[in-house]
Amino acid sequence: MQRPVLAANWKMNSGPTAAKRFMDSFLPAYGTHNDRTVIIFAPSVSLTTVAQATSGRKDVIAGIQNIYWAEKGAFTGEISAPMARDAGAQVALVGHSERRHIFGETDAQCAKKCAAAARFGLTFMLCVGETIEQREAGETERLVKRQLREGLSQIDNLLSVDFAIAYEPVWAIGTGLTASAADASAIHTMIRSELRDMIGTRGDEIPILYGGSVNPANAAALLRAPEIDGLLVGGASVEANSWVSIAQT
Ligand code: PGA
Repeated sequence: MQRPVLAANWKMNSGPTAAKRFMDSFLPAYGTHNDRTVIIFAPSVSLTTVAQATSGRKDVIAGIQNIYWAEKGAFTGEISAPMARDAGAQVALVGHSERRHIFGETDAQCAKKCAAAARFGLTFMLCVGETIEQREAGETERLVKRQLREGLSQIDNLLSVDFAIAYEPVWAIGTGLTASAADASAIHTMIRSELRDMIGTRGDEIPILYGGSVNPANAAALLRAPEIDGLLVGGASVEANSWVSIAQT
């Protein structure tokens, strides 16, 4: 992944028809930018639409919002890493705060998902971040370190695996509240030092994205801050014009 990484998380928005309409207006307006990577985390049913629209491109790629860790079998409603790859996903989001807080996903489950992505050749983006209660209780650092270390704990060859981290404070997601560039940067610096501790200088190459109420007006300042290598964007990524402006930041 070429940094900066600009990632759109459509969440439960845009079926294939809306996805096609989005790609038809986003791609020509965006053009080609080989100095960055754009990822579209589409709902599973829209994955092939996004993958086909970006086929052959390295600068805009498709991602899946969640995977299950088994390769195949009796897991109704779930999608495996090989299936996601077959549908055109190159990246899997793991442990988004909505998965953790609405669907009860644990660090142990996130670890299995990261390991499955790595085993089946899918890059993964592990999301970490604290709630407002945890922040106010001064637990942010300890929690983020735990989510990071546990999420990566089931991968044996971490040094040779492609992955990214997204720091998304839960209180900033979809609320209009954004962490200041300085606050976000401080957490990113802590994540970077954990990564260095785990995998040495390879830790410097892992993109660390910020997410939480990013919009066209605040994207540039966040991206300029030290150790912020990209943005993970929900609400402001669903509409093509707004996403063109953020992706071109
Ligand atoms: P938001 O969502 O940009 O709507 O705050 C970010 C995310 O949840 O990835």
